[in-house]
Amino acid sequence: MTVTIKTSIEIEKMRTAGRLAAEVLDMIAPSVQAGISTGELDRICHDYIVNKQQAVPAPLNYHGFPKSICTSINHVICHGIPSDDKILKNGDIINVDITVIKDGYHGDTSMMFCIEETQKFAQRLCRVSRECMYLGINQVRPGARLGDIGEVIARHAHKHNYSVVEEYCGHGIGKEFHEEPQVLHYGKAGTGMELREGMTFTIEPMINAGKKFTKLNKNDSWTVTTKDKRPSAQWEHTILVTSDGFEILTLREGETPPSIA
Ligand code: MF3
Ligand code: CO
Ligand code: CO
Repeated sequence: MTVTIKTSIEIEKMRTAGRLAAEVLDMIAPSVQAGISTGELDRICHDYIVNKQQAVPAPLNYHGFPKSICTSINHVICHGIPSDDKILKNGDIINVDITVIKDGYHGDTSMMFCIEETQKFAQRLCRVSRECMYLGINQVRPGARLGDIGEVIARHAHKHNYSVVEEYCGHGIGKEFHEEPQVLHYGKAGTGMELREGMTFTIEPMINAGKKFTKLNKNDSWTVTTKDKRPSAQWEHTILVTSDGFEILTLREGETPPSIA
């Protein structure tokens, strides 16, 4: 399949799906506390998406994924599976990744939470990875190239002595959860596909405190961790290319971009 350019009707549906995904994060945020299990977070989100939003949690049964959200703690990079025996504790960092389908279209967004007294170095990893995402977002406009996004993200990560995960990336999104193009979080400015008005894709850099290397859990075949067990952080938004720049379809109420970006 090639890259799809969304019509104005599709864009309206993407706006709705994006807003719903953002609202799930707003809804779950107060519950992301020490003592709660990720299984419980999954149940709360599932019920909210299905009953309140009358939408579909896209991860559930997606290529066999067993739960409705992804929860990735500390050295888990992405695709962590919620479980009743994973209980959040003081000092953890966790990514909660929400994807909903509404009226046939997907909205995909994730954010980090710091649990109580998180160490300074982990807080900094969370802050810088969010800056990386926003620096990438700010590159988006018709005529820009995918490599422009990747280069600024990697440059900012490396400036802080972090590494960028290469095996997983952002993606086109729409009727399908994962469409073309692949949005790499590293690259060379001026290279790669040219962006066009009406494209929708995610930017979701995974930034590691240590080395870039990843390991896939053999038992569940989903959980991706850092090889060196050092922590990783990720933020994700779904973006629309507009005539003069971008629109963040998954912006949360009151969310303001960091001052660096
Ligand atoms: N939400 C993830 C992404 O940002 C994908 C999760 S796939 C799943 O692309 F199957 F693990 F849910
Ligand atoms: Co995504
Ligand atoms: Co996601």
